[in-house]
Amino acid sequence: MPEPMTLEGPRLRLRPWREADRAPLAALNADPEAMRHFPAPMTAAESDAWMDRLQAHIAAHGWGFWCVERRAAPGCIGAVGLMHIPWEAAFTPAVEIGWRIAPAAQRQGFAEEAARLALAAGFGPIGLAEIVSFTRPANAPSWRLMERLGMSRGEDFGHPRLPEGHPARPHILYRLSRADWVAQRLG
Ligand SMILES: CC(C)(COP(=O)(O)OP(=O)(O)OC[C@H]1O[C@@H](n2cnc3c(N)ncnc32)[C@H](O)[C@@H]1OP(=O)(O)O)[C@@H](O)C(=O)NCCC(=O)NCCS
Repeated sequence: MPEPMTLEGPRLRLRPWREADRAPLAALNADPEAMRHFPAPMTAAESDAWMDRLQAHIAAHGWGFWCVERRAAPGCIGAVGLMHIPWEAAFTPAVEIGWRIAPAAQRQGFAEEAARLALAAGFGPIGLAEIVSFTRPANAPSWRLMERLGMSRGEDFGHPRLPEGHPARPHILYRLSRADWVAQRLG
């Protein structure tokens, strides 16, 4: 088993999951506003199962969707990180970067700081060649973040876990290669 990674930024720590994170994560996953771009908010049992899957990915690989906490005020404010996409599409196998931040902690640059830490880990020690991200076209906070991170718009696709005709099925894809990430950092 690889050693689980913890990432430290100026304001945030991204770390493996703990039992105490279940309640704040369940509150985030039950929030209709935070979950408005998903098919439905999660029940507490669904949130627990999601946390278990996130922790299993970290246990297997050393990295994954981490628990996000403020260094100055520890406690879960969201989930951000990298994950092997568990379904098939034209662009898989691939590793995605994703984010979910509690409403009270949004619009303070936390998703961006956490995402930059995850990209640096992904293209640095983890050694990925490309990272993708995807969302629904209506989720402007999410795709604007992809653009701020220097990701490029790729092909549109229908989410394979949702049936044809489902309103949440159309998705947009963004991609970032290690070469482009390095070039952007060199300015
Ligand atoms: C998408 C999401 C993770 C962004 O989280 P966040 O922490 O608010 O992200 P940031 O603070 O980095 O950026 C959000 C906005 O706040 C702005 N912002 C950043 N720091 C700010 C500050 N100090 N004051 C005011 N605004 C600020 C950013 O410029 C950005 O503006 P924009 O949306 O107009 O481009 C969050 O909205 C979320 O969790 N949504 C629900 C879950 C979800 O849909 N996840 C994505 C699924 S694909």
